[in-house]
Amino acid sequence: MQMLGVDIGGSGIKGCLVDTATGELIGERHRLVTPQPATPAAVAHTLKALVEHFDWKGPVGCGFPATIHNGIAKSAANIDKSWIETDVAHLFGDVTGQPCHVLNDADAAGLAEMRYGNGRDRQGVIILITVGTGIGTAVFVNGHLLPNTELGHLMLEGMVAEHYCSDAVRKREDLSWGRWGKRFNKYLSRLEFLFSPDLFILGSGSAAKLDKFIDKIETRAPLVAAANLNQAGIIGAALHAAELTAARQSA
Ligand code: BGC
Repeated sequence: MQMLGVDIGGSGIKGCLVDTATGELIGERHRLVTPQPATPAAVAHTLKALVEHFDWKGPVGCGFPATIHNGIAKSAANIDKSWIETDVAHLFGDVTGQPCHVLNDADAAGLAEMRYGNGRDRQGVIILITVGTGIGTAVFVNGHLLPNTELGHLMLEGMVAEHYCSDAVRKREDLSWGRWGKRFNKYLSRLEFLFSPDLFILGSGSAAKLDKFIDKIETRAPLVAAANLNQAGIIGAALHAAELTAARQSA
């Protein structure tokens, strides 16, 4: 099935058509700058422009950087506070004219990795982590997602973990990969203490730099880069939309 997957982020809104049978992107990815302030109405109109760019008529999967419960945003750590209690799925559907299925962005990336990437056919506890402006997490037990885990908000060294070791912090504090890697190792060690995972998968841009800090990672569970690197969010959002569409058609 062909589906449009979109990853909504603080700086860019990126989309691509995805073949959900294989997890491969079809054609070129398209990126629009996230409007500032990133209010619900402004973001919805940018999403509409993205949907029109692809001339797409059909369900749209959207990864969104907040906890999403039944299509409604329940948190807003790095986005405009006016998103809280917004029915994101409804708003996007109204503005784009297409059915929109919304889920947490890290959960989307995790779904892609579990289906087509480095979590494929793996049992046990797997935690995917995205490290960008914030830290997002997706926790899987024997292939099943526990949604909206928000483990980037654990307390570490007296602060919210994503304020200690996100990629934005690495850039802002001009940390070397080694120094940042030590911080990230502390974060992974905390996750390991709490969840005893079998595998950590690192998504987002930092995954491409894993060789620069892997020597600082001391967890028992291995840390591997996402096979889909930066595209996992788009691919997983498309997969989510395809699965919901198929489930509704067969109901
Ligand atoms: C948000 C999460 C999101 C993560 C990555 C965090 O600040 O709370 O919902 O998954 O950033 O975008």
